Order: sequence, then structure tokens, then C-alpha cells
Amino acid sequence: MADTETPNVIRRADYAPPAFLIDTVALEFDLVPERTVVRNTMRVRRNPDASRAAHLELMGEQLEFVSAVIDGKPFPNAHPHEHGLLLDNVPDSFELTLTSICNPVENTTLSGLYVSSGNFFTQCEAEGFRRITYFLDRPDVMASFTVTLRASKADYPVLLSNGNLLEEGDLPDGRHFARWEDPFKKPSYLFALVAGKLVALEERVKTGSGKEKLLQVWVEPHDLDKTRHAMDSLIHSIRWDEERFGLELDLDRFMIVAVSDFNMGAMENKGLNIFNTKYVLANPETATDTDFANIEAVVGHEYFHNWTGNRVTCRDWFQLSLKEGLTVFRDQEFSADMAGGATDEAARATKRIEDVRVLRQMQFAEDAGPMAHPVRPESYVEINNFYTMTVYEKGSEVVRMYQTLFGRDGFRKGMDLYFRRHDGQAVTCDDFRHALADANGRDLAQFERWYSQAGTPRVSVRTRYDAAQRRYSVTLKQGYGDGVPAARETQKGPLLIPFAIGLIGKDGRDLPLQLDGEAQASASTTRVLEFTQTDQTFTFVNVGEEPLPSLLRNFSAPVIVEYDYTADQLAFLLAHDSDPFNRWEAGQRLATRELLALAGRAATGAALQLDDSVVAAFARVLTDETLSPAFRELALMLPSEAYLAEQMAESNPAAVHAARQFVRKRLANALRDDWLKVYEQHRTPGAYEATPEAAGHRALKNLALSYLTELDDAAHAVRLAAAQYEAADNMTDRAAALSALLNAAAPQGGSAEAQHALDDFYRRFEKEPLVIDKWFALQATQRGGAQHPVIDTVRKLMTHPAFNLKNPNRARSLIFSFCAANPAQFHAEDGSGYAFWADQVIALDALNPQVAARLARSLELWRRFTPTLRDSMRAALEKVAAQVKSRDVREIVEKALA
Ligand code: TRP
Ligand code: ZN
Repeated sequence: MADTETPNVIRRADYAPPAFLIDTVALEFDLVPERTVVRNTMRVRRNPDASRAAHLELMGEQLEFVSAVIDGKPFPNAHPHEHGLLLDNVPDSFELTLTSICNPVENTTLSGLYVSSGNFFTQCEAEGFRRITYFLDRPDVMASFTVTLRASKADYPVLLSNGNLLEEGDLPDGRHFARWEDPFKKPSYLFALVAGKLVALEERVKTGSGKEKLLQVWVEPHDLDKTRHAMDSLIHSIRWDEERFGLELDLDRFMIVAVSDFNMGAMENKGLNIFNTKYVLANPETATDTDFANIEAVVGHEYFHNWTGNRVTCRDWFQLSLKEGLTVFRDQEFSADMAGGATDEAARATKRIEDVRVLRQMQFAEDAGPMAHPVRPESYVEINNFYTMTVYEKGSEVVRMYQTLFGRDGFRKGMDLYFRRHDGQAVTCDDFRHALADANGRDLAQFERWYSQAGTPRVSVRTRYDAAQRRYSVTLKQGYGDGVPAARETQKGPLLIPFAIGLIGKDGRDLPLQLDGEAQASASTTRVLEFTQTDQTFTFVNVGEEPLPSLLRNFSAPVIVEYDYTADQLAFLLAHDSDPFNRWEAGQRLATRELLALAGRAATGAALQLDDSVVAAFARVLTDETLSPAFRELALMLPSEAYLAEQMAESNPAAVHAARQFVRKRLANALRDDWLKVYEQHRTPGAYEATPEAAGHRALKNLALSYLTELDDAAHAVRLAAAQYEAADNMTDRAAALSALLNAAAPQGGSAEAQHALDDFYRRFEKEPLVIDKWFALQATQRGGAQHPVIDTVRKLMTHPAFNLKNPNRARSLIFSFCAANPAQFHAEDGSGYAFWADQVIALDALNPQVAARLARSLELWRRFTPTLRDSMRAALEKVAAQVKSRDVREIVEKALA
């Protein structure tokens, strides 16, 4: 690649404060789909804390420059260029009015101002505001905004922006206007406007201080019947943030708007959150239990940003995890509290297990590939590529570790101090760490490494019991193993790892814990060891019998633990550990170990067999009525194919699939009667309830159904699934039944029952785009068979009239589902999956670079695969690298090939 083509790398080390500040912004929009005129009047002054600049450089993209006026006079020294506007010889303090034009209806990037289903929406994070007007589009420039919207009243009856509505009224020629003011200063990435034919579900609630607030969920008219759950989630979020963190809603009105064309999940614009419809719309007929839970989590997430992100924002985009890691942590805690309150550990654990499963499957993989980066990255080419699992999920784990170290109360003290110090400011991850340290009287200098080091730490454990001395020593060793260069470069020294541990006696109960040097055993049978050195030994005394260690309880740090448990010990932990997370973990370790051994054999064509003791361990979970159904479902779900392939020295998706299918069949046949019984016992008759308990029953029942389809004779399962499909009064059961029918039909490449259900499903939900997304996704992720590759179905569905590449949800439902959630089919030996992937990345690159770059990432681990796959993946990556234009996709494929 020629030097001139090298994309610009932005580095954290180059941060400099802005040369100018913008105190106020008055925006006026004349909204027209093909040609929207934006007038932007700003109060600008030199930043006293920055060195003196010769020019004012404003960012701007895809804008048609019309005019610049300074202090009321036309300004001749304004020079528009590809990336913005350069203004020479400006005064030290002045009023600047800029007029420009943009084209929302042609904007397929869904960044900036765009049209979706005939309505106007904006998306400004991270750098979309510069596609609306020229600005210092960076988060440390915070301004007070007033916004005037003008548009045709018939076409755009509703006009919304951030903050409070000041005034609205009619204009000549069938137009009308609305004027909004946001009482809080904010960075431009939190600006939003919405205009169109929308209706709202409204509620008025009183917050802690007794003030009444107006809550609205805005949707298209036909979706009003799917807004109740989002509204309830919002009300619960408001209450929770008051109770847990003492944080109150600071605006008189809080709005959520749903839009069907959206690049991500949702956006926390001040007072005007904009959501992907997927995270708003739900009723029992159209949404699954998972959808209901996701809506609650995302509504919470965006609402919690009002304090963690908006009131205190990021100094620069390298600090992204300051708001995202913290806000994910807050939404995870919210969901856990909603499921189990503060004390129901088993209910809380199901949420924890789901979160850790995502972290391990997605973030650990990211950390092992060419996109590996620290929670606080050092450089980027395109910031949109850094809204990652590492920044969000590992960032959340980093925040969780403060709470694990200091307890809930200590964490709360740190949060209080953080807001006392930084309310209204744009700050850094260091500022957050210092607040937590100071509030708890601790030096957390070493903890900074969690922000600066990439790669997944490995903790290897050795234990020794001295029966004569009644001493039990636990030696921990930390390191990173061999990683990718991107991660290795960042690794400088040992981390402060909160390592939670318990010791279990022969009777399955926790033993008291007394560390050497302590006068007596502690009240709790779980201790958080502060593991700070490369190699460190902790010795427990008065240990009357040789214990079994329960390591890293509740997953107290985002690390890989290496310890040589025997299969019997894992079965024992699965049956007895008092820490519900580690019970689940023991089952996963047992299953992973067996599955990896089987995959190794499958790769060489050797015969497969599974030990009866493993089957017995799973049978005990299946039939243990003391465990909640939700927990049993999680414990009986085998590790995913993607996770297993990632664990192999050389990833072999076909071998993993064969091994996992073998185990599923074995468990299905061996426990047939138990599965049938569980299926019958966990039906949920009566009206649908979206509670965690009811969802747990459905999850376990539907897992049973999916195992039953693996039986050598699946005829009975097909009858059950077909009956469940017909009788279903909710989407959870209907989609699970359809999936089971597709699964049972896989070996023959289809069945009359499956086809009938697919056709019925389409007809029934033709007018519900989110359900049609499921229809595409179920087919893209179906198992397929040797003679019936799923790629054929996917290619055919690409020509279906309901398919639309411009709609991200639809593109994800078909293309991403196939490329990222059906590994055995995607990684077909003939490279057909990769050829398809390349075509779609190239097509999306021209429409929507953000979405294209996400898809581009599905090949980033190519170097770890078997030689044949590796070669065809490289060829596909090279083809894409040669053709794509966007910075977004180029950064991904160039890092992958480097
Ligand atoms: N800040 C948003 C969140 O975490 C995510 C976000 C960033 C986003 N960039 C986006 C959403 C672009 C939509 C489009 O909730
Ligand atoms: Zn967020």
C-alpha cells in the first residue's frame, strides 16, 4: 500500500485541548428530504487553556456550504473543503452563523440526519453531527443548544429535539415549527432531532424529589400496541437509579423514539433517546422472552447514560469505556436486581452467567485477534470500529472489579465522589479510577493496567494440602500466554486481580476461611484475594480436611483460570458448589473438555464416544428439582460451536459441529424419558407472563424440545413441535417450535411440517418487520445437512421481496446470522461462505460503512483455522481489501491481513 493511501491514525498520546470553545448553539432546520437547510449560530471564543491557533477549523462532511457570517457581517475568509470548513483571521470572541445544506433522503449511512420510513431521524455519536452542520465535533466541546425545527405540518406533524419544548406554532404554506431548549450543556454527539408521523404512549411519574415528569415512547401508529414493556422498563430504570445510586432524572420530559433503520441498539441523546425498534417494540405475540429482557436492559442502559455519559461525559473517544463500560455495568446490575433483588443469588446468577457467556465467546475472541485493544485504546483509524466487546463488556468487568474490591457501599461512595468532582465535565478513565480510589482510601495505580493492557490474562492455580499442619496453600500465577502482537505490545506487568475463592469440604459444604496471620475465620465462606504479583501464594490455616477449591467465584475478574480438576471433581462442584455461577462453570468445564477431546478425534475421523459419568452429571442437573428452571437450562446448554472452535489449537468448525452434535444426540437418547418429562412439566398454561420465572420454564421446556429433535427417531418430537407451533400464544414458544421443526428436518434437507410452519409464520407476521427478521434469521442459522448446504437457502432468500440490504436489521437477520452464527455452514470447506461474505461486505461498503465493517470482522480470526480454510479466508479478505473504499472496512481488513 502506498504511503499516501495510509489512513490517518488518531493517537491518544496526541490529545490536545480545543483551540476554541463554543458556548451556545442555535440551530434552525428547514426539513426537506432531498435538501434540508441548516442555519447554525454559535458563540465562539478562544480556549484560555489552549495554545493560540491561527485558524478556526470546523469539521464538516457531505455538506454543501452556503454562507458564513461573523457578528452580523458576511465573512469572506471561510474555506470549505472535504473534511470541513477553515476560517482564517477570526476574532477572539464572536458570533458565527453558518448556513449549509444536506440531503437526508440519500443518506444510507444512517449517520447524521437521515430519512427512515418517511420520517427524519439523527444519529450523531460518534462523529455524525459534522454531517449536519460545521462544528467542533468532539466530546470536550460542550455547548447549550436551542433548536428550531420547521417542516410541512401534514407530512411531519411531530417535531422533537433535546430538552424542553419552548414554543410551537403554524407557519404559512402548511408548515409549522417547534422550538426546543436543552437546559444542560452537552457535546454535539448527544444532539438529536426527530420529525414525522409518530404517536406516543405517555405516562406521568413523580421522581424522588416529588417532581412530576412526562415520559413518552414514540412509535409509528401501528406499533402503539407494542410500547407498554418499554415504558415499564423506563419507569423501573428511573426508580432503580434513584435507589441504587441516588441519581434522579434531571429533565421535565424524557422521550424514547423507535426507528426501524438504525446501525446499533440505541442512542442516549439527552432527553431524546433514539432506539432501534428491536429494543422497543414487544408484545407476547411478536417478541420472545429474550427480546423482553433485552428491551429492559437497553432501555435501562440508555437511561443510565443520562448520568454516566451525559452529565459526566468523555474528554475524547479513547475514553469511550468511561461511559460505556460503566453504563453496561449499571445495566447488568439493574437486570440482576430486577430478576433477583439484592439477595436472591441464584436468580442474579442467571444474569451473570449470560453476561459471562457473551464476554467469553465474543470479547475473549476479540482479544485473541488482530483487533485486540485495551479497554482504553491507544489509537484508531475509525472510531466507530471501537464500539467493541472490549470497550463495552470487558470495560464493564473492569468497573465490576471496583465493586468486588470495595463492596457495594464502597463502590457507591466512589460514584458519589465521581459526580461531586466531575458533574458537567468531560473527563477520563483516570478521573474515574481516582474517584474510586480516593473515596475508599486506596492507591489504585496498579489497577490502571486493566485500562492499558490488551489480551486475556491467564491465572494458573496450584494447590497443596498439608494434613499435619492443617494448612492449604493456593499459589496463583498470572500472565497472558502467547497472544497476538497487537495485545503483546501493551503488556507491561502484573494486574491487580480480585480473585474470589471458596473451599469445599467432602460433604459438599463450604469450609470456614482463615488466612495465615488472621486471628479467626471470616464470616463469609468466599474470600476475595487481592492478587497483585506475577506469582503469589495464599495460605489458609485450620483446614481440617483436604478441600476442593471453588475458583474465581461469580467470575470475579475477566481472566482464564487454569486448574487441573478431574472429571469427578467437576461433577462434584456441579452438584454442590454454593456459588451458583461456579456450579454452572463446573458443568461448562466438564462439557468443554469432553467436546474438545471429541472434536480432536472428529478432525482425524476417529470414532466418538462419551463417558457415562458425563451423561450422569448432566442427568442430575436435568432432574434436580431444587434448581431453578432458568439455571437448569443454562447448565444444560452446551458451549457454543464458536467458543469451542476458538479453544482449539487449530479451529475446525466441522469437527466441532460433529462433536457437539454427537454429544447432543447422546444426551438426547440417553435421557429421552427425562427430557420428555421436563417438556411436559414445564409448560406454562394460562395467559403469557413475561416474568423471569415463567421465562425460565419456557426456556427449559424449549431446550428439552430441541434435545428431543436429536433422537434417533425424531417423529414424536416433530409431533410435539408441530402441536406447540399451532397452539402457541407467544413468540417464545412459536419460534422455538419452528426452530425445532427446522432442526428435525435438517438431515433430509427439509420436511412438510417445517415448510408448512415456515409459510404460516411468514403469512401470519408479514406486517411485522421484527418478526420477519426472525424468519430470515431462523433459516440462516438452521443446521442444514451434507447434501443441503444452508448457503443455497441464504442466496435464495437474498432475492426474496422482503429482503433489503439497506435496512441493518434485515441485513443482520440474514447475512450476519449466516456469517457469524452458523459456523459449521459458513466455514464450508469449498469456501462458498467466504465468497458470499466478500460480496456482501463490498455491497454494504457502498451503502453503510459502519454495518459493512461489522460484517467484515467475521473473518478476523482467519489465521487460527485449518490450512484449507485459512487460504480461502485470506483470498476473500484480499478481494475485499482491493475493492472497499470506506475507512471503516479498510481498517478492519488491513489489520486482519497485516
Ligand atoms: N452510545 C450508544 C450506546 O451505547 C451506542 C452508539 C454509538 C450508537 N454509536 C452509535 C448507536 C451509532 C447507534 C449508532 O448506547
Ligand atoms: Zn452505551
